[in-house]
Amino acid sequence: MEELPLWIIIEQLGSAILTHVKGDIFEIGIGFSTVVFKKFAEEFNRDLYCLDQGRGRCRWARELGGCKIFHARSLKTIRTLPELSFAMGLVDGRHEANTVRQEMYYFLDRLAIGGIIFMHDTYPLTDKKMRNKDHKRGPAGDVYRVRQELESNKTLQTFTWPYTAAYCGLTMVMKKDPNRPYWRK
Ligand SMILES: C[S@@+](CC[C@H](N)C(=O)[O-])C[C@H]1O[C@@H](n2cnc3c(N)ncnc32)[C@H](O)[C@@H]1O
Repeated sequence: MEELPLWIIIEQLGSAILTHVKGDIFEIGIGFSTVVFKKFAEEFNRDLYCLDQGRGRCRWARELGGCKIFHARSLKTIRTLPELSFAMGLVDGRHEANTVRQEMYYFLDRLAIGGIIFMHDTYPLTDKKMRNKDHKRGPAGDVYRVRQELESNKTLQTFTWPYTAAYCGLTMVMKKDPNRPYWRK
């Protein structure tokens, strides 16, 4: 089976999400995804908040333009952000459950109904895939634990794509609309 381009799911679904849902866009982890989100931010007139602890990535995004850049660890940045409402975002920073759990709950609290947070690396990752400079500070590759927790949360709808985003697992987390229940008690 052919592997799809890295962020094709976001590229394909972004317009549908932003047409339906009001709010800004965020990402933790600057890179190719920033280019995709920048296009949507311009097209739909939304602000794009980019969080990354890497100096080089932030410099690159500054040159790209069109984003509000926060150069620090995500958990430090979220303590300083103004109260915002988001329609769409991507969590792709530190690949470690404890950090991602706090990132996810912060942004889920500020996600509009029907909005979607994409989470990358939600499959259990092998040592080989995790061996890069982002993970000098201890255990990583266990973001799947957060995915499992969110999967059992009845206020959320989740779906994980296997064959894109470098086969590392791309999970979409949507906040359900309590006024449009699709189940019966
Ligand atoms: C996998 S890369 C992001 C890839 C990017 N989304 C793309 O499409 O190319 C991970 C990034 O997250 C940043 N990062 C790692 N841990 C972080 C943290 N705790 N807070 C903020 N940024 C972090 C790294 O500096 C790195 O730039």
